[in-house]
Amino acid sequence: MNHNTPFRRAAVLAASMIALAQLAQGAEASTNMPAWLEHSVFYEIYPQSFRDSNGDGIGDLRGITEQLPYLHDLGITGIWLNPCFESPFRDAGYDISDFYKVAPRYGSNDDLRALFAEARRLGIRVMLDLVAGHTSDQHPWFQASQRHERNKYTDWYIWTDSVWTWTAPGQQVVVGGAERDASYIPNFFHFQPALNYGFAEPDPKAPWEQPVDAPGPRAVREELKNIMRFWFDLGASGFRVDMAGSLVKNDPDGKATAALWHEFRQWMDKEYPDCALVSEWSQPQVAIPSGFHMDFLLPFAKPGYKALFRPEGDAKPIFDRSGQTSIKVFLDEFEPLLAATKGKGFIAIPSGNHDTAPRLGNGRTTREVDVAMAFLLTMPGVPFIYYGDEIGMHSLNGLPSKEGGYGRTGARTPMQWDASTNAGFSTAPSEKLYLPVDPAANRPTVAAQQADPASSLNLAHALIALRKAHPALGASGDYETVFVAKGGWPFVFRRTKDGEEILVALNPTAKSCEAALPRKIKASEMQLLAGEAIAFRHDAGGWRVVLPPASFAVVKVK
Ligand code: GLC
Ligand code: CA
Repeated sequence: MNHNTPFRRAAVLAASMIALAQLAQGAEASTNMPAWLEHSVFYEIYPQSFRDSNGDGIGDLRGITEQLPYLHDLGITGIWLNPCFESPFRDAGYDISDFYKVAPRYGSNDDLRALFAEARRLGIRVMLDLVAGHTSDQHPWFQASQRHERNKYTDWYIWTDSVWTWTAPGQQVVVGGAERDASYIPNFFHFQPALNYGFAEPDPKAPWEQPVDAPGPRAVREELKNIMRFWFDLGASGFRVDMAGSLVKNDPDGKATAALWHEFRQWMDKEYPDCALVSEWSQPQVAIPSGFHMDFLLPFAKPGYKALFRPEGDAKPIFDRSGQTSIKVFLDEFEPLLAATKGKGFIAIPSGNHDTAPRLGNGRTTREVDVAMAFLLTMPGVPFIYYGDEIGMHSLNGLPSKEGGYGRTGARTPMQWDASTNAGFSTAPSEKLYLPVDPAANRPTVAAQQADPASSLNLAHALIALRKAHPALGASGDYETVFVAKGGWPFVFRRTKDGEEILVALNPTAKSCEAALPRKIKASEMQLLAGEAIAFRHDAGGWRVVLPPASFAVVKVK
């Protein structure tokens, strides 16, 4: 993905949280873990682009509800829905103007309630997106806050004490945008003013920086709880929390932000113990001890994760036919994170998301997409599939920015269902669509892949079923790296739980590869669960793995 300025900023924020690692050792993790997470497989839906039920060119909640049987058949058990609330949509809905109301273009609160209920009937839980750190500048709270007269909302946002404050250490500042004689701190784009959760270490020379327990920050916290309660009570099963690590400002060791989430988790464990939170933090060793059930690895913050599927400068990705980049680049980052979070929460490895271009499918053959999916769906933690990645959809290059998408826009195009008009996304004239459908003649579709036993969709289906059927492949099953070829492939890892042992071997490259497994791998038989039948062989020297180009194998050790 092109690292635009806001993303660099997010990366800096995330990096400043690294110091929190120390906290991970000291903090007590919550013990309550909703049982349904163990075998969950999530699916991210960008509501604009999934399915348009009323022909206005934009996806909506009824469209999602209509397509739930598709997700159910695929084996999906959780949905993360990007923001679907009232908004001027200058950042695709991450600029909320009413946290309690579904945006009319998507339907009504009743439609969302119906989606929750129908999903639950099919065994699917729905998580909403909690944009905790900021609102739209059109939000009535901000409109009141920016007024000259003191009012209930005066301290809900972060204001300097004069409009002539044009800079603030480590913060952006928006000057001249308000009635009151003050500048405000935005959280992301300039029209997303930061809600005031206070400063961990207020600067005595900047008296406008309020401590976390000042009345304004306390009121904002309570309101955030109200928002969560409102949607939990309507049937939401949790939230993905936007920019979760950056709520409290000037929080160099991150302790104050962690304490906030710890308090929220204790409240959830008491009142909503079956609900869960996943953070956009990308510091699992920090986020999980703070109270999150799951934390994402994300390309802007975790170079080892980014290297899996996406190029960095001249470096090819790890999952690439060249075989140039070793899986060690990822494992050196991942293994310590896994050790630090074991038994406390889950690392979520996404196939992609609405902020990430190119998509997994770009530049990969069907078989190469399959090897990547085999990895994602057999690793520990909780996998998240970005809509369309299960059919290897491509992101489009060179689209003009839509709703603040910029370089992210191409990864947000409509889902490709079938061979009908607009790939079955919408009956609107194609120039009315939210974003264009991939114009490629051979674009992948759900219908074509359902009919093809060798499709990526059918493989994803089989791998998800496998994951749910085997304790060793669950979120908490143990993980161990068994073999990494020096400077190459294969890569073999082991998952174990409750006496069950499963081996996964991967070769994403264009060359076949072969390796002798370490002697400690003892088995009388390797029962094939998925992939290459001939991959695991036994000879006088013990067990060997032989993998053709772009192939994998999942076996159960007997
Ligand atoms: C997160 C979202 C992104 C949004 C930003 C500001 O990074 O994933 O889409 O623009 O936060 O809310
Ligand atoms: Ca619509």
